[in-house]
Amino acid sequence: MQKLNGKNNPWFERRPLVALAPMEAITDNAYRTLVRRISSNVILYTEFVPCKGLLRAGDRVWKIAEFDDSQRPIIVQVYDNDLEAIRDATSQVAKKLRPEGIDLNMGCPVRKVVARGAGCGMMADPDNAADAIKIMVDSSDGIPVSAKMRLGITNKNEVIEVAQKVVEAGAVQVSIHGRLKAERPRIRADWDAISAAGSAITATVMGNGDIWSVEDANEMAAMEGIDGVMIGRGAIGNPWLLHRTCQALAGETVDPPPDKKERIRIALEHLELNVIDKGERRGVLEMRKVIRNYIKGYHDSRRTWMKIITVVTHSETANILEDFAENGDDMPLHE
Ligand SMILES: Cc1cc2nc3c(=O)[nH]c(=O)nc-3n(C[C@H](O)[C@H](O)[C@H](O)COP(=O)(O)O)c2cc1C
Repeated sequence: MQKLNGKNNPWFERRPLVALAPMEAITDNAYRTLVRRISSNVILYTEFVPCKGLLRAGDRVWKIAEFDDSQRPIIVQVYDNDLEAIRDATSQVAKKLRPEGIDLNMGCPVRKVVARGAGCGMMADPDNAADAIKIMVDSSDGIPVSAKMRLGITNKNEVIEVAQKVVEAGAVQVSIHGRLKAERPRIRADWDAISAAGSAITATVMGNGDIWSVEDANEMAAMEGIDGVMIGRGAIGNPWLLHRTCQALAGETVDPPPDKKERIRIALEHLELNVIDKGERRGVLEMRKVIRNYIKGYHDSRRTWMKIITVVTHSETANILEDFAENGDDMPLHE
């Protein structure tokens, strides 16, 4: 099917189309800087940012949305239920930050968010979702607007109506996470449902959910109606997956997975960036869950993890990681 809305919007026209999914407390400034050092092609998303927060809270919330120019192309993701707040926040983000795109979150399943009609709650009222997108298009000063949504609230076909309405309202791209609102991450994402929706929608579609390897990405990208892939949890502690996926989808030779020393070299860089950004204590504590992924797959992973969770300083954490890199086995990563 001929997809509409492609003109003058280069970020989602690029092929291969590979994105790092927006993830709160993961796709922060530090991680985006790191991913960009490894991959020049992948599209980055900020964590989701509340529109009212941007308008009222000032610097603390703006810090979530702000990015360094080196991170481009980058999409700022916002969420809210209040159309006026969506309009004003879009206008300010466009003016102050000029990202390559502004995305509206229609997928967050958190009860408090959904109950007030934001996040996945937007999918309950497709016309309102379309109004929100229209308002964003009108206030984004020409910056492309997109939406990220789930398959639906209770029915996997809901996405088709919501997506088509937001596309008619001016969204240039839709990302579809292949789960219903209440489906937990352990339930496998339904790629067939993403493909069916993608085939029915006249805009660029990125498929999202359960891409853990280059093979997964290849498989999803080959499906009808899916123009690109968006990788979330699979990229936590594994920024190489994004770069290797770009290589695979471009038909290039794919780098082998990194060895243990390289994994730890990058984990240390990530830790340092996080500490610079958030201060030592918060930077170290927030990195713990991510470090767990960097070190997984080795016989001494668990022992190392148990040490990591007992320390709170940058230098102690770094020493444990350096010791892990130098000693023990060097089994290749299982993807
Ligand atoms: C820790 C975490 C935070 C997330 N935060 C956001 C967010 O801010 N905005 C959003 O649209 N989705 C968010 N998501 C959902 C992901 O973008 C993605 O849709 C979901 O994880 C499924 O993809 P995956 O199977 O590749 O992880 C988050 C997911 C995780 C695990």
